[in-house]
Amino acid sequence: MLQSTLAIIKPDAVARGLTGEILATCQAAGLAVAGLKMVRLCKGQASAFYAVHKERPFFESLTEYMASGPVVCAVLRGEDAVARYRALMGATDPARAEPGTLRHAYGQSLQANAVHGSDAPETAAVEIAFFFNALEIMESI
Ligand code: RTP
Ligand code: MG
Repeated sequence: MLQSTLAIIKPDAVARGLTGEILATCQAAGLAVAGLKMVRLCKGQASAFYAVHKERPFFESLTEYMASGPVVCAVLRGEDAVARYRALMGATDPARAEPGTLRHAYGQSLQANAVHGSDAPETAAVEIAFFFNALEIMESI
C-alpha cells in the first residue's frame, strides 16, 4: 500500500552535515521525498512531539537533545513506507543496528541515533501534521 511516513534527521546528524547522505539513502531505497523542511524545536515543541514518552526516564534528556539544534523533517512516500523506513533506520540503539541501516552508519548513541521514523500509519499521519501543512506536502512525486 502506498504510504507516507515522517522522517526526522536529528540534531546530531544535521550538525555533522549528514542530511544529504541520509536523504539520498532514503531515495535510493525507493522512498520519495514528498515534503522537506529544517526547523529548530523549542523544548515545549519537542516535548509535545514525543509526548508518548513523557513518563519514561529518558524523556527530559530526549527532549533537551531534540531541542539542541536544527532538525530536518521529511515526508517519505512509497509502498509500505512506514515499515520500510523503520527497517532502513535499524534498531533504536545504534550498537544493535544491522549493517546497512542508517543508525548503524550514522548513530552515535542510544539517544543521538541520527534519525526518527513514525512507528505506524496512524502515528505517521499525526506526526506529519505536526510539522507540515497541506500545501507543503506533494500529492504526487
Ligand atoms: P524514534 O521514535 O526516535 O524513531 O525512535 P524509536 O521509535 O526507535 O525509539 P523510541 O522507543 O520511540 O524512543 C524515542 C527516542 O528516545 C531515545 N531513547 N533514549 N536512554 C534511553 O533509554 C532511550 N531510549 C530511547 C532515542 O533517541 C529514541 O530514538
Ligand atoms: Mg518511536
